Amino acid sequence: MTATATNIGLDGVIAAETKLSAIDGEQGQLIIGGYSLEQVATQLQFEELVYLLWYGTLPTVPQLKAFDIMLKRFRQLPDNVLDVLRVAARQQKQPMDALRIGLSVADLDQQELDSNALSCLILSRSASIVATYQRLLSGDPPVAPDDSLSHAANYLYMGSGVRPTQTTAKGMETYLNTVIEHGLNASTFAARVIIATQSDLLSAVVGAVGALKGPLHGGAPGPALEMVFEIGSAENAEPAIRAKLNAGERLMGFGHRVYKVRDPRADVLAAAAEALYVNGQQRAFYELAKTVETVAIDLLAEYKPGRRLQTNVEFYTALLLHGLQLDPTFFAPTFAIARVAGWIAHCYEQSKTGRLIRPKSRYVGERNTSIAPIALRSHLNLLSAERN
Ligand code: ACO
Repeated sequence: MTATATNIGLDGVIAAETKLSAIDGEQGQLIIGGYSLEQVATQLQFEELVYLLWYGTLPTVPQLKAFDIMLKRFRQLPDNVLDVLRVAARQQKQPMDALRIGLSVADLDQQELDSNALSCLILSRSASIVATYQRLLSGDPPVAPDDSLSHAANYLYMGSGVRPTQTTAKGMETYLNTVIEHGLNASTFAARVIIATQSDLLSAVVGAVGALKGPLHGGAPGPALEMVFEIGSAENAEPAIRAKLNAGERLMGFGHRVYKVRDPRADVLAAAAEALYVNGQQRAFYELAKTVETVAIDLLAEYKPGRRLQTNVEFYTALLLHGLQLDPTFFAPTFAIARVAGWIAHCYEQSKTGRLIRPKSRYVGERNTSIAPIALRSHLNLLSAERN
């Protein structure tokens, strides 16, 4: 690319080197920390995978034990965080906003944590904030963490007050492992831009939460689930999806900037979700979602030929998290409590480069204009609006 070429969405631009993940968007393959997605999603505990991303190697038994103790040390939310979450719940703030607000004050009770401890605090407290906010928003009291439970199981427990079964805990762990890390996506890029200014880790994570909130990134699974509910029956799938595409709507849970084939994470999550839809009515909903997926892909090929729009991670995220009884407004924050581990790992990597991230913009405004006296401006603005 020449120095003067513009690339508005930075498509295909390589802005970092990473050992954290490799995405092959043409083959539909994802490697995380050197291992295939299929292995890490189902064979590792979330804590082991976080350790791999942060420290570059899988932990030994003593290393994992020490790491686990450090994570659990921060699970309990201090009063200042609980207070702000209560205010947020009274004002019915969206869960992603509550996560941003809670995280901003999450280290107020601590002084001079080293980066390992701060990373553990951010990871543990993100999960506790989201789980506690589920309780507060439904008018229930917070649930204290249970140190006998893993990170994934404790998240479910603190959110529902009910001890998860082996199947539901495994479902949540598979989800967290699957979405923990994914190259230079928008939120990870945001975190790297912030940390590259030599700002702090917590600021980088809070910025990344803001980027993840948008419907073109982490905010898609809620609407994806709504679409399946709205469609309601297999016969209605085609007319309903056609109506959306005719209206110029985007189908949430489909399309990806990098994957031009099926997102490999969709398969892993589909398998994990299937285990949660066991009785007749649940099974019927799962089957309906699969029909919606097939019809959507066919119609996207018809309406957007050559765009190669396939199922992305968010479609089966919706199904899996719905199967775990989470409200759709908590889908994006649950994504965040996994991805926070990836953001932190990227911040470590970025900091090692010591390089500020500072692209250029191409000026397309006017030049050589002179400042009009204020009394004449509304008249001139009107003329300029008429010209445009
Ligand atoms: N439904 C309908 N049309 C779509 C969709 C979709 N889901 N995705 C892309 N298109 C169309 C666009 O309208 C555009 O059509 P046009 O050329 O006729 O104008 C064409 O496909 C190319 O779209 P772009 O916006 O250039 O593709 P981009 O790479 O920027 O899009 C994105 C990626 C934002 C994910 C997009 O596919 C989308 O909006 N999907 C729906 C939201 C979603 O599922 N987001 C989650 C993504 S996964 C994640 O972030 C964790």
